[in-house]
Amino acid sequence: MNKTSSWENFQQHYLELPELGFSLDTSLMNVPDVLPNSVEKLFQRAFQQMQDLEVGSIANPDENRMVGHYWLRYPELAPSAEIKNLVSSTVENIQQFAQEIHQKKLRPQKADSFRNVLLLGIGGSALAPQFMQNALASESDCMQFYFLDNTDPDGIDQVMSELGDKLNSTLALVISKSGGTKETRNAMLEVRHLYEKSALDFSRHAVAVTGEKSQLDQLAERENWLRRFPMWDWVGGRTSVFSAVGMLPAALQGLDIKKILHGAKVMDELTRRKDVAKNPAAVLAWMWHHAGAGRGEKAMVMLPYKDRLLLFSRYLQQLVMESLGKEKDLEGKTVHQGLSVYGNKGSTDQHAFVQQLREGPADFFVTFIEVLKDRKNVGIEVEPGITSGDYLQGFMLGTSSALFQNGRPSLTITLDEINPQSLGALIALFERAVGLYASLIGINAYHQPGVEAGKRAAGDVIELSLKIQFLLKSRPEQQYTAASLAEILEDTAKTVTIFKLLEHLAANGRVQKISSDSPFSAEFKANP
Ligand code: PA5
Repeated sequence: MNKTSSWENFQQHYLELPELGFSLDTSLMNVPDVLPNSVEKLFQRAFQQMQDLEVGSIANPDENRMVGHYWLRYPELAPSAEIKNLVSSTVENIQQFAQEIHQKKLRPQKADSFRNVLLLGIGGSALAPQFMQNALASESDCMQFYFLDNTDPDGIDQVMSELGDKLNSTLALVISKSGGTKETRNAMLEVRHLYEKSALDFSRHAVAVTGEKSQLDQLAERENWLRRFPMWDWVGGRTSVFSAVGMLPAALQGLDIKKILHGAKVMDELTRRKDVAKNPAAVLAWMWHHAGAGRGEKAMVMLPYKDRLLLFSRYLQQLVMESLGKEKDLEGKTVHQGLSVYGNKGSTDQHAFVQQLREGPADFFVTFIEVLKDRKNVGIEVEPGITSGDYLQGFMLGTSSALFQNGRPSLTITLDEINPQSLGALIALFERAVGLYASLIGINAYHQPGVEAGKRAAGDVIELSLKIQFLLKSRPEQQYTAASLAEILEDTAKTVTIFKLLEHLAANGRVQKISSDSPFSAEFKANP
């Protein structure tokens, strides 16, 4: 029998979470009705590890750290009274600060009130706040949001020109757990320069969210910024949304952060269930394990059929791929684990990459997200008896069924509606699924050696660029090819990098380029 039409199969693989207005349909994933014994055993170990993590074990052994994001929405769970108080008082301080801003008790230097927020951060310090702000935006938002999440000068100029003359009523939130991430530091320096150009004292418009005594923290303290909010070493960047990283922007937007935290807390209760079939995060982890044979052989395509959830795929891409994409397992064996995530939104993607999903390589499974409530107010009918929302659902159901007919599995998460509570719950669901899945495959989900390596590699390139510029300036009459410069710098292994650095410097008018017949014999010299 065609499984899409099997009511029995659906009932077997449908999990309802009435506490949160959620449900999970895995009937199109082709999993057995009963969890295989071997997987059940892995889960029992995963549940035990999760329990240990929640009571404060060193669950991130490489960095010798506890992993405490679950305490952020349930401080009573924290392993010490000190952490519990820190978490609770930070929530209170965030609410208090947002209130002072909204009620104009805290005012900018040269305007009546703060009306805009410019958030500077990257990765875990930007993706979730961006996603949440976008997903819950409404006409009753207290402040207008802008984001800088890169060191791209043109990108910075674009955002800053959008802000235009509103800088005097703009609060700059600089978010960096480590307080030393160059993209964020650069954006901060660029923004600060613009405040100063407008005769505004940056420190009277700036707030830092960062680890204690980080470079950023010290700067903010030294310059007496408006406020500093803490980040703790037991919270990872990509799981920091329920700390000040996500809750401060949310409170400034005017959202009820207690509702967001409550949604996450309720989801946590449901995802602590030891019965896999009743635990939504365990069900997700099982699906990932089943689809990719525990080796990430299939990508997860995220297709929320809701514009507000557009940024969810990007947020999830980081949460999943930075957590699970690991060379070594916990025993040090080379495993090259991961779970690729990509996606955007439906039905838009049906006019883009869904063509390949339907007919190309069957190297993926889809996670559909459906939201039952179409819109705030009643809309028109686009055909008799049919609304735009009916079409949205129709496209989703039609696509999941067509994919299934063609041997492509999918699962569907259904939310009654998008609100602060359901968003908190959705994020918490995936945070837990990632943690459980990491245990199933035996890796550390809470470190990111690849990200750190990327940060170091850029540092070496910057150093080389400085050497080149110094050399050219110290011999202003001379001109050099990339190869001759590499010889002088005694770094011939880096000739390609030197070539690219020179091209970039020349394109920005910082050195002169004397072109030649061949790109490789072009010469470069210092500007006069
Ligand atoms: O999840 C992570 O740890 C990373 O993606 C970080 O969030 C990212 O590198 C930004 O780091 P920081 O917050 O220290 O600036």
